[in-house]
Amino acid sequence: MLVSSFFREYSLIEFNPEVKMCRLRLFFFVTLMFSVAWVSGHDYSDALAKSILFFEGQRSGKLPSSQRLIWRKDSGLHDGEQIGVDLVGGYYDAGDNVKFNFPMAFSTTMLAWSVIETGRFMGSELQNALEAIRWGTDYLLKATHLPGFVFVQVGDPNADHNCWQRPEDMDTPRTPYAVSQDHPGSEVAAEIAAALAASSIAFRTSDAPYAVKLLRRAITYRGSYVDSLGPWVCPFYCDHSGYQDELLWAAAWLQRATRSQIYWKYLVQNIHNLETPAVNPNEEIVSMGGDSFAEFGWDTKHAGINLLLFGGLHRVDPFQTNADRFVCSVLPESPTLSVEYSPGGLLFKPGGSNLQHPTAISFLILIYARYMNHINKVVRCGDVVIGPPRLIEFAKEQVDYILGSNPMNMSYMVGYGKRYPLKIHHRGASIPSIDRHPDRIECKAGTLYYSSTEPDPNLLIGAVVGGPDIQDSYNDSRQTSVQAEPTTYINAPLLGLLAYFSAHAT
Ligand SMILES: *[C@@H]1O[C@H](CO)[C@@H](O)[C@H](O)[C@H]1NC(C)=O
Ligand SMILES: *[C@@H]1O[C@H](CO)[C@@H](O)[C@H](O)[C@H]1NC(C)=O
Repeated sequence: MLVSSFFREYSLIEFNPEVKMCRLRLFFFVTLMFSVAWVSGHDYSDALAKSILFFEGQRSGKLPSSQRLIWRKDSGLHDGEQIGVDLVGGYYDAGDNVKFNFPMAFSTTMLAWSVIETGRFMGSELQNALEAIRWGTDYLLKATHLPGFVFVQVGDPNADHNCWQRPEDMDTPRTPYAVSQDHPGSEVAAEIAAALAASSIAFRTSDAPYAVKLLRRAITYRGSYVDSLGPWVCPFYCDHSGYQDELLWAAAWLQRATRSQIYWKYLVQNIHNLETPAVNPNEEIVSMGGDSFAEFGWDTKHAGINLLLFGGLHRVDPFQTNADRFVCSVLPESPTLSVEYSPGGLLFKPGGSNLQHPTAISFLILIYARYMNHINKVVRCGDVVIGPPRLIEFAKEQVDYILGSNPMNMSYMVGYGKRYPLKIHHRGASIPSIDRHPDRIECKAGTLYYSSTEPDPNLLIGAVVGGPDIQDSYNDSRQTSVQAEPTTYINAPLLGLLAYFSAHAT
């Protein structure tokens, strides 16, 4: 296939604040009610550089000579060896040493989406961002290399979680897990296809042959795993909730990367699946489908699918209406709000690692504002009219909160600002490095460091932790994993936000 048919760029027009001045004034009043009192003035460029550096700290495999977080060393060099497959590389997704390909693929997709939308604002950091994507995609290519199998995880999670060990020392079973036609796992397979397709767009201008390779893999791979799901997965898998959105997400990214009618037809014919309540094998409703417009994260893609399709110039229903409903379920002034806010203004959803929600949702809000601005559109939530300037301001408030404009006066990014978490829930950061302590630290010998109230000996610069509780308070305790653990999917969408605000600081 001709390279040029893969590579048709989208033209995104920059947000121009002057054009929207009247609308801005209109919303000034509403905005005031929700604005926070803490001083802003953040160094978004500094935060951007650090947010990317974090990914170096999460690297598994043989580290390159260009590695900048040098307290980390090679690890997981034999992953896959026991079954004769090379599964070396990729990322540890959080504070442990398991490679979970599902969140890893989602994080890679979000890194790629950040570069696609805001790479032009990254300056010299663009190269580092592309390296961060490549560390993920090189591994995802390995995970999809063996025909008939998709590797979805490396490392026994129970054994791993039972130890507190540096990745360089780990000696727990590095069990590889795969899905195949006998053991389907369509959501992981689809998420990997989405990551490869999104990354192919991100690499188009800088490394066209690599972009072609990624896209070809995504296409082949989706062809063999996603199209054939119906016949052999049902009825076994049809009862489970939660894979329809990944199938649509993969199709949406492939559609954007190829502009092929095949994916478009699939999307139009299947998008209603998101509206259908999903039931588990006990006939209990586990997802209300239609109520999930505010959902976007590693396990739910609904809002991302609608936004991606809308931005891919498919400004038709249901994508447009769904994208508008997403805005109306998130913005605090909307009458149909379905998320919570802390008194200090942080978006909050139930479950752990809360900061994954404000980063992923704010990223979508920001890019929707730019798409809307392009076509002079506003969103109506009941009587409340919301225009692009308000959306951009919303995203900025969430980012500023994370960087320190909050009641604790605390940055939730390690190494950024005057005050930040010093005791994160992260094995590598909390145990002395190989340079300082060359002897192996066994599984239980690490407990000493886990229980310690001392600051981390290694700074995992750029790591954004799970964050404060709904009352804006943060304990800075290594044992409080829901608050103190960083993850790749908290940081990945933040790259796009920080890149945008570094170029549009007010
Ligand atoms: C945060 O900073 C503000 C303004 O300097 C100050 O009034 C407030 O007491 C600080 N809060 C905390 C928890 O340190
Ligand atoms: C933070 O610490 C306080 C006091 O030790 C405790 O009551 C609270 O439950 C902790 N918060 C979390 C989220 O663990």
